[in-house]
Amino acid sequence: MENFTVYNPTCLYFGKQVTNNLNKTINELKVKKILFMYGKGSIKNNGIYDSIAEQLKISGVDFIEYSGIKSNPTVDDVEKASILCRKSKVDLVLAVGGGSVIDSGKITALCINEPNDPWKIMKAQIHVNSALPIIAVLTVAATGTEMNPYAVLQNTLTQEKIGYGCNLMFPKYSFLDPQFTYSVPANQTAYGIVDLIAHTLEAWFGQGDASLSDRFIISIIKEAIELAPLLLKNPSNYEYRAKMMWAATCALNGIPAYGRSTCDWGVHDIGHTLSFLYDTPHGASLSIAYPAWMKLQANRIPKRISLLGEALFNTSSTSETISRFEKFFTSIGSPIRANECGIKSDNKKEILALMIKNKITGYIHQLTEKDYIKITDTIFA
Ligand code: NZQ
Ligand code: ZN
Repeated sequence: MENFTVYNPTCLYFGKQVTNNLNKTINELKVKKILFMYGKGSIKNNGIYDSIAEQLKISGVDFIEYSGIKSNPTVDDVEKASILCRKSKVDLVLAVGGGSVIDSGKITALCINEPNDPWKIMKAQIHVNSALPIIAVLTVAATGTEMNPYAVLQNTLTQEKIGYGCNLMFPKYSFLDPQFTYSVPANQTAYGIVDLIAHTLEAWFGQGDASLSDRFIISIIKEAIELAPLLLKNPSNYEYRAKMMWAATCALNGIPAYGRSTCDWGVHDIGHTLSFLYDTPHGASLSIAYPAWMKLQANRIPKRISLLGEALFNTSSTSETISRFEKFFTSIGSPIRANECGIKSDNKKEILALMIKNKITGYIHQLTEKDYIKITDTIFA
């Protein structure tokens, strides 16, 4: 086992109607003005906006809104939101949505208190001393951002999608009502399932012999694989939505990584390249990238892949293990090849060029330019 630290200050409320207490939580924080941040409008269609606005009204605290955060969110929106908030003297960020909205809220919270430049902080991994408190209301099970200190944004000018982590970005409170995810469409539900599995795999292929964390990982993946077909057939089943939501939280709230010095994150980097170039949804980019990455690694780390196969699919064959992941992703409607989401093989050069420019790699499993070629060949195979 490697040395590790456990720190997770997020107070997480999980279950039916948990947001009915949002007004009390807000009042306890004694804030005067809130930034209510959300995405492109799903919360207006499914009634979540109205129930949160009602809570804000009951609390009596003044609020302003910043909406329109896109999937694969951009640093431009965060810049605009933070300028608006500094002018309005906001002292709490309330982010209502999926990973894109909550991540944008987290970086905004770092840049309202002090006039920080969000991209500079993220790119140079600058330490920030203070931030506004963040409350997250999660509406899609996927990223784990609701109980972790990370955020991922992209920058159109520099052609990058990168992550940043800082303890100030743990949400102070997170509200998870699985009923809020009933309206998540089938494709987005599937991408969330891929994403949560990918988070555990990034830990599985990280550095450190951590048998208990390995067992947690296997349990999380088994839970996701078993629940997925049931959930996709019954999208308004509370138990299925609830169990998947909790699995997604546990996949990236630290548990799979304890006992390791680092996770790998190379596959996420590959996926971010597709998301940046073609706006590929995050989970879809990972169901394309993971099989390609595992095929590349099959001869380098066969034991680790076989162990996964033995625990999940009753096979020690690396190729069978990879093929079982592909079959699973396909069965839930997530793409495993780039052309399934409209990316043409003519784009191969462009993908390679961006991987080279951004030096895509994992922390543990370094990727070379030759590897990029093999990976791009596989994603178009
Ligand atoms: O924009 P709105 O209208 O909100 O619609 C969203 C969006 O179109 C929709 N949606 C969300 N909740 C819904 C709903 N539709 C119907 N009913 C609901 N209840 O779903 C679409 C996707 O939303 P998004 O927030 O983009 O999805 P997700 O939660 O998968 O977040 C993806 C982002 O998180 C980053 C990814 O890179 C990507 O940018 N990640 C963040 C991480 C973190 N902070 O720890 C780790 C992850 O690895 C990931 O990189
Ligand atoms: Zn992810």
